[in-house]
Amino acid sequence: MTTAIEETLVLVKPDGVARNLTGEILRRIEAKGYSLIDIRMVQPDREILAKHYAEHEGKPFYEPLVEFMQSGPVVAMRVAGNRVIEGFRVLAGTTDPTTAAPGTIRGDFGRDWGLKVQQNLVHGSDSVESSARELALWFA
Ligand code: RTP
Ligand code: MG
Repeated sequence: MTTAIEETLVLVKPDGVARNLTGEILRRIEAKGYSLIDIRMVQPDREILAKHYAEHEGKPFYEPLVEFMQSGPVVAMRVAGNRVIEGFRVLAGTTDPTTAAPGTIRGDFGRDWGLKVQQNLVHGSDSVESSARELALWFA
């Protein structure tokens, strides 16, 4: 059985950039065998974040999330490989960094800081449809 080469959007969130973990995160992506296709550092405005997180509008963590994501620069990466969308989310670990498995990015470097939104270092697209939409947004 063969699988298609996919692309995914990875964001190193402001907490990851501020903690100088961009290189470590990219190291793990490359060590896994995925390919970096494009990379840029962005100071996101509310407009791009409202589009990026449209699915969460109205949820209790939405405003704190948009505020947190604007708190500093993020690093956007276009990453390619077979099943990379699923594969990067496994590398990232589950959303809540307190319970994310050790060995994952969130499990190894994240924790609960007692804030209104979980700061969890990275974003990864969750489907072929969202990766296409998100890559068009961040690499316009
Ligand atoms: P992401 O989209 O950033 O890759 O993360 P995810 O799929 O694992 O999680 P998602 O449900 O899409 O939530 C987006 C981001 O919102 C923050 N969040 N905080 N209860 C909370 O405090 C809470 N729930 C979600 C996290 O930063 C999460 O990554
Ligand atoms: Mg998500």
